[in-house]
Amino acid sequence: MKNWISFPKIEGITSRQAHADFPEGSFEREMGKEGFFGPATHLYHKHPPTGWTEFSGPLQPRAFDTNSWTDWGNSPWDAKTLLQNAQCKIRFWQLDSAMDHLVRNSDGDELLFVHNGAGELYCDFGRLTYRDGDYVVLPRGTMWRLAPSEPTELMLIEATDSSYKLPDKGLVGPHAIFDPAMLDTPVMDDAFRAQQTETPWTVVVKRRNQLSRISYPFNPLDALGWKGDLVTVRINWRDIRPLMSHRYHLPPSAHTTFVADGFVVCTFCPRPIESDPGALKVPFFHNNDDYDEFIFYHRGEFFSRDNIHPGMTTFHPCGFTHGPHPKAFAKGQTHARKETDEVAVMVDARHALDVAPEADAIEWKNYVNSWKAS
Ligand SMILES: [Fe+2]
Repeated sequence: MKNWISFPKIEGITSRQAHADFPEGSFEREMGKEGFFGPATHLYHKHPPTGWTEFSGPLQPRAFDTNSWTDWGNSPWDAKTLLQNAQCKIRFWQLDSAMDHLVRNSDGDELLFVHNGAGELYCDFGRLTYRDGDYVVLPRGTMWRLAPSEPTELMLIEATDSSYKLPDKGLVGPHAIFDPAMLDTPVMDDAFRAQQTETPWTVVVKRRNQLSRISYPFNPLDALGWKGDLVTVRINWRDIRPLMSHRYHLPPSAHTTFVADGFVVCTFCPRPIESDPGALKVPFFHNNDDYDEFIFYHRGEFFSRDNIHPGMTTFHPCGFTHGPHPKAFAKGQTHARKETDEVAVMVDARHALDVAPEADAIEWKNYVNSWKAS
């Protein structure tokens, strides 16, 4: 039995309630455990916690522009790795024409996020049409291939040795955010049956990050049918009806879409900005003390960031104090914007993520200085 040391205490000049009615001219910083679920303290600072003049050493925020990567292969096993640890692998891939082979990830469930493009996914369970903004969960062991009808750009997130599950929706119940009835599954239709040819096909299997090739004289996507509850599923961010409070800035955990061992995937969707005069309108300053935080920017104007465009990513390692950029913070204080149109995917990892060497070529090296007022 282990209990947190737990007693809300107040010292000095503070707000009595988080994220609202700050003492005049103060900047709130949250220091907390276990994401947004453990003990936490809110400190009210005289200066923005991001007001540094110099920042050196290995604890660095990083930003990468995936639009700068070129030379993509025909296989998801050619995808470029951006970040990884023992539980999670974040990769990027582009594909213009149909894959000439099947793949199977035997290291863990794979989550595809379609940044751009459209086409067909063929897998063990049938055919599924995909479009931009789709999440596709491929259970570990699924054989699959893509046949794009438009050039396709993807982020792939592997739940290494674990499974994607849905978060506990607590007070708001299982139908909030998105109703599980919105999860689409592949169909076994004429188009699926038409690709069940008696011609040679190869399956490239990834296990322990090593590739093996299995050749068949026929297409092994030859199931006649299936029954069960372990299947490829698809949900689009446009199907998400995000939680929002007009009086309280919800933490990112309110936007959790999938959970796996050691990390969560959250989706920031268009939503109104808080209207209550005392409520914070932009994310609070914090250090995410137990988590490494990665964001992929998909669409729209990013309400807490300056100089970020779609296809870019940011990485804020545990212990790095961050918060809104100066222009975004100032805009938030005037309540100039009534809603945000941003769409972004966040991965919060409980253990440290390593930046892959191939990310070096696409890094915006001056990102740490982007909080300096211009
Ligand atoms: Fe953060």
